Amino acid sequence: MNRGDNIFVAGHAGLVGSAIVRRLRALGFDRLLLRPRHDVDLMNASAVLKLFEDERPDYVFFAAARVGGIMANQMYPADFIRENLLVQLSIIDAAFATHVKKLLFLGSSCVYPRLSEQPIREEALMTGALEPTNEAYAVAKLAGIVTCQSFNRQHGTRYISVMPTNLYGEHDNFDRAAGHVLPALMRRFHDAKVAGDQHVVVWGSGAPRREFLHVDDLADAVVHLMQVWGEPDAAGSVVGGPDALNEIVNVGYGDDISIRELAAVLQETVGYEGAVRWDTSQPDGTPRKWLDSSRLRATGWTPSIGLREGIARTYAWFLEHHHSARLGDS
Ligand SMILES: NC(=O)c1ccc[n+]([C@@H]2O[C@H](COP(=O)([O-])OP(=O)(O)OC[C@H]3O[C@@H](n4cnc5c(N)ncnc54)[C@H](OP(=O)(O)O)[C@@H]3O)[C@@H](O)[C@H]2O)c1
Repeated sequence: MNRGDNIFVAGHAGLVGSAIVRRLRALGFDRLLLRPRHDVDLMNASAVLKLFEDERPDYVFFAAARVGGIMANQMYPADFIRENLLVQLSIIDAAFATHVKKLLFLGSSCVYPRLSEQPIREEALMTGALEPTNEAYAVAKLAGIVTCQSFNRQHGTRYISVMPTNLYGEHDNFDRAAGHVLPALMRRFHDAKVAGDQHVVVWGSGAPRREFLHVDDLADAVVHLMQVWGEPDAAGSVVGGPDALNEIVNVGYGDDISIRELAAVLQETVGYEGAVRWDTSQPDGTPRKWLDSSRLRATGWTPSIGLREGIARTYAWFLEHHHSARLGDS
C-alpha cells in the first residue's frame, strides 16, 4: 500500500471504520474514499458498482456491516443475515469488477462454533454448531469469508479475512439495548449514576468470559495485515504461508475476563455505587470466546492498550461526546 493509493473504508463512521481512518491518516495515507450511507447504501449493488467505477479504489477495508449485541441479534435475525449478505456481495462484486488490488474483510469471533476449544484457533472454523443467539449474523459472516476465499481461488483476487475479538472504544454504539456488552453496560451504569438509581439489571449470569480489544489496536492490526499478510517478507517468504490469502487471521487481545469482572471495572470507572442485579432468565450466549492470536503475533504485531486504560479512555470520550455519541432511543 503506497501513500498515493486510493483507499476505500466501507463503514468509515462506525466503531471500526473510524478507527481505521484515524490509523491510516496517522500513517500519512490521505487518499481515503469515505461515503456516508445517505450517499451510497452499500446494500444497493448498482450504486456500489457505480461508486467503484467512478472512484477506482486500490484497496478496500471492509468495515461496513449490520452489527449489534445479543439483544439486537435475537430481535432482528432476518435483518442481520439479509443486510450483511447484501452488503458483502455488493462490495465484493464491485471490487472484482474494478480490479481492486487487495480487500480486507472484517469477520467476527461469532463465526466459530459455540463450544470451540479455548483459545480458539483459526482451524476451528466450521467444525461445529454455532451459538444460536447470533446464528444469522454468523452465517452471513461465514458466507463473507467463503466468498473472499472462492474469489481468490477462482479469480486470483487478494481478499483477506480477519476475525476480531470483541471490540470497544471511541465511536462505539452506546445504545443500552442494541449495543455490545461493554458499551451497553457502560451506558447503563452512567445513566443509573446520573438518575441516582439503586440498582442496574444486567442480562445473564455474569459467568461467561469474553476477550476485549481496544478498537485502536484493532485498526493498527488490520492496517498492518493489509500491508504484510500474503506478501513476501524481507527473506522472500510469504507472510502467513503459501496459502495465506485463504487462511483467516484472528485478532485478539490475548487475555479474557468474566462479564461479572468486566461489570466491576465498568462500575468503578463510571463511579456508580448502586447494586448490580443479574437477570439469569436471560441468555448468556457462548460460555467463553477467547481467540488464539498466535498467527497474527507471528507477523510481529502485539496490542498496546490494556483493558482498564482502554475503558477509561472510552468513558472519557463518552462523557465528552455525550451529545453526539450513538445512544439509540432505548
Ligand atoms: N464491534 C465489535 O465488537 C466487533 C467485533 C468483531 C468484529 N466486528 C466487525 O467489524 C465490522 C465493523 O463493526 P463496527 O463495530 O464498527 O460496527 P458499527 O459501529 O455499527 O459500524 C458499521 C458501519 O457500517 C455502516 N453500514 C452498515 N450497513 C450499511 C449500508 N447498508 N450502507 C452504508 N453503510 C452501512 C454503518 O452505517 P450507519 O451508521 O449508517 O448504520 C456503520 O457506520 C463488522 O464487520 C463487524 O462484524 C466488530
